[in-house]
Amino acid sequence: MLSGIRATGQHPHGKYYGALRKFVKIQDDYDCNFFVADLHALTTNPDPAQLHANVKNVLAEYLAAGIDPEKATIFIQSDVPEISEMYLLLNMHVGIGELMRTASFKDKARKALGLSAPADGEESDEAFECEVIGASTNKRVNAGLLTYPTLMAVDILIQKASKVPVGKDQLQHLELTRRFARRFNSFYGVDYFPEPTDFDFGGAPVKVPGLDGSGKMGKSEGNCLYLVDDPKVLRKKVMRATTDEGPQAPNSPMSEPVANLFTLLELTSAPDVVQHFRDAYADCSIRYGDLKKQLAEDILTVTNPIRERVADILADESYLRRVVRDGAERARARASQTLRDVREIMGIRGF
Ligand code: TRP
Repeated sequence: MLSGIRATGQHPHGKYYGALRKFVKIQDDYDCNFFVADLHALTTNPDPAQLHANVKNVLAEYLAAGIDPEKATIFIQSDVPEISEMYLLLNMHVGIGELMRTASFKDKARKALGLSAPADGEESDEAFECEVIGASTNKRVNAGLLTYPTLMAVDILIQKASKVPVGKDQLQHLELTRRFARRFNSFYGVDYFPEPTDFDFGGAPVKVPGLDGSGKMGKSEGNCLYLVDDPKVLRKKVMRATTDEGPQAPNSPMSEPVANLFTLLELTSAPDVVQHFRDAYADCSIRYGDLKKQLAEDILTVTNPIRERVADILADESYLRRVVRDGAERARARASQTLRDVREIMGIRGF
């Protein structure tokens, strides 16, 4: 089992319920590998000092959330140089066209060019490709952004991972990984790479809504709580969450912003607390301010210990160094074997 998190900042609160908490639960039962994708973060040309700080934060949050480096392998992507070499090799079997049609590429390329997303179906592939290739602007879309899916496929294939828990937005990348694995196997007439699948945790997927009334909690949406938010900041954000004018008649349906608050409450609070507010909503006695106060305190009960552990871990440089050194050693053992095999299969052979 392998999963990576791009080093672009702190974990949104949603990542805890959607990913970290689940990872902690399965680390006893699977050969789990978690890594910080710092090379992927380079695709958006981050500030170097900021990138390093982000890598440390992501690492500290993995550990603080309860991932145990004795049980799971935790490593930094760039500590495994075999990944970079195999990225070059695999790119020889990846089409520019298929990469350009990837939804995440279109999204990020538009951002890089300062274009807004077209209304559904309004733009042809050709029009988009013209914009990307076009010389009409001094902005550019870097090649790393285009080959992002190759690098992700290599992360997975070099470890021969079979289970890859990813969010919905990453399913297309996983599909490409399977396609590249099949293509490699069939081109060279080998049965070398297994085809990885999404890890099924069972149960319904957890969708953690944002605080601004619509959509999910995400870093880019300005609706986001972070796992390491200071209590004062977190309370303020929750108190500012979008609501409505309140139920006008008993048992009214809920508006989306209010339903979202209840979803958050269900994730964090005790069942009797949730029931209390549901009843209050049903009989119109609810005060959203009370609900938010309760919600903020219950979230803090979960996040306070994590935030404190993050601070301790970040202060312990020698511990962090030990964790990533051990992790890199284990990840490299597998990666170097795969790279040896791949070079041999492709005909890069010694004398
Ligand atoms: N692209 C993933 C994301 O943005 C991060 C990632 C990189 C990843 N390599 C991976 C996830 C390999 C799973 C497996 O969320």
